[in-house]
Amino acid sequence: MSLINLIEFKSLGDDRGGLVSLEGNNNIPFDIKRVYYIFNTKDGVSRGFHAHKDLQQVAICIKGSCRFLLDDGQKKETVLLDRANVGLYIDSMKWREMHDFSEECVLMVLASHHYDEADYIRDYNEFLMASKK
Ligand code: TYD
Repeated sequence: MSLINLIEFKSLGDDRGGLVSLEGNNNIPFDIKRVYYIFNTKDGVSRGFHAHKDLQQVAICIKGSCRFLLDDGQKKETVLLDRANVGLYIDSMKWREMHDFSEECVLMVLASHHYDEADYIRDYNEFLMASKK
């Protein structure tokens, strides 16, 4: 099974421009508890490098582009996010890294829970051990 699960959102845009609507438990497969966004990322910076024990997320590059690497402990896959109407679904226990942020990139992330540092696995070896269980 592919690690890369892309959700294509219906485009509600018209000749005036683009519009995408995101609804929890509808086109987003969980109740949205938190939204955060990453922007003004400095040149050459990569982010992420963690997994979550119990958190689902959908990442949408609403402007510009960045490359995601997902890893389930057995395989790694990458995908370029560069469309405002496509979200990458990221399940719990997936190591993620974000690379190659374009200068104008705005990466918006929808999350199924509030921020909780205790839910993070930030050590790759710990992630590998946990993902074998
Ligand atoms: P971090 O998880 O390191 O960002 P990334 O994994 O995307 O590179 O988050 C950076 C800091 O922001 C860290 O101190 C935790 C804090 N933070 C929050 O307080 N709330 C949030 O929703 C997020 C995502 C991070």
